Amino acid sequence: MIKKPIILGIESSCDDTSAAILQGQKILSNIVANQQIHSLHGGVVPELASRAHQQNIIPVVDAAIKKANINKEDISAIAFTKGPGLLGSLLVGSSFAKSFAMGMNIPLIAVNHMQGHILSHFIDEGKAMPEFPFLCLTVSGGHTQIVRIESTINMQVIGTTIDDAAGEAFDKSAKILGLPYPGGPHIDNHAKKGNIHAFEFGKPKIKELDFSFSGLKTSILYKIQSNLQKNPRFIEENLEDLCASIQHSIVSILLNKLEKAIKITGIKQLAIAGGVSANSYLRVELEKLAKDKGYQLYIPKFEYCTDNAAMIAITGYFKYLDKDFADQSETPSARLSF
Ligand code: KG4
Ligand code: ZN
Repeated sequence: MIKKPIILGIESSCDDTSAAILQGQKILSNIVANQQIHSLHGGVVPELASRAHQQNIIPVVDAAIKKANINKEDISAIAFTKGPGLLGSLLVGSSFAKSFAMGMNIPLIAVNHMQGHILSHFIDEGKAMPEFPFLCLTVSGGHTQIVRIESTINMQVIGTTIDDAAGEAFDKSAKILGLPYPGGPHIDNHAKKGNIHAFEFGKPKIKELDFSFSGLKTSILYKIQSNLQKNPRFIEENLEDLCASIQHSIVSILLNKLEKAIKITGIKQLAIAGGVSANSYLRVELEKLAKDKGYQLYIPKFEYCTDNAAMIAITGYFKYLDKDFADQSETPSARLSF
């Protein structure tokens, strides 16, 4: 029997250093080192992120190889995140990947991070995978997109944010509420016992399939500031309701546009990807919508929602099959598009 290729994936686009080993479409290991240092600063500090990646990259790759129970000589190719992301962070992963490819004399594969989020649905977990074409709501700290996917290589962004990303809307709202960075998971947790209709915030009026979140952020800020003038304990006394109402506003904006995209394209196979797809309310609301309307919905496993190298390795696997290789002149790109 022909052995399936073994791909080492490297992800270093923001503040997580990750390495994964995949054989065919099956994960053998997926190690993620989070950088706690940024929570002290209320956001990712690019210079600190690059330094932490430099410290983490070799131990993380080493751990991924050990956990996969392979030798580095077994690796068929190395895939790395080319962009989009923070340039200094991307440079650490790309330099490592280039050196590893040269040292081991194996192919080098450059991967688009957003494409990686989408293709995480093709990691073999024994569950059904999306069929082409499908729509993917890709929501992360840096991006908010509706993507129409025709094949593993043919994808088209049909809606995007004109200002903040959905993850930023969560993180900036959390900052206003005095919650730690990244704020998305904290809002998600506090919202569980809150009333989604306790507070109303401004709704964006953006045409077609594009998104906007900056108006919502301003509306949240003004509401909180005016209430704090009357009651300095306003946030503590209303934290759960505030989180539930903010989360409801962000999720409603996302679902509204997704429904519009389904109407326009006629595509009824839906997927979500990116860090915000870990949000429990978004997952529940999407499941309700899919059940009501008869859409087929694909939600990734929790560990493949936020940044991870398994998604880079699976994209690398498809590129490996197409012999779509990079060479030593490849450079990272902070603003890489599809
Ligand atoms: O995809 P990701 O790990 O990194 C980027 O590529 O940006 O996404 C990170 C974003 C952050 O904004 C974080 O607050 C958000 O995903 N996030 C969540 C949740 N978990 C992570 N947002 C809402 N609810 C969550 N449970
Ligand atoms: Zn991401």
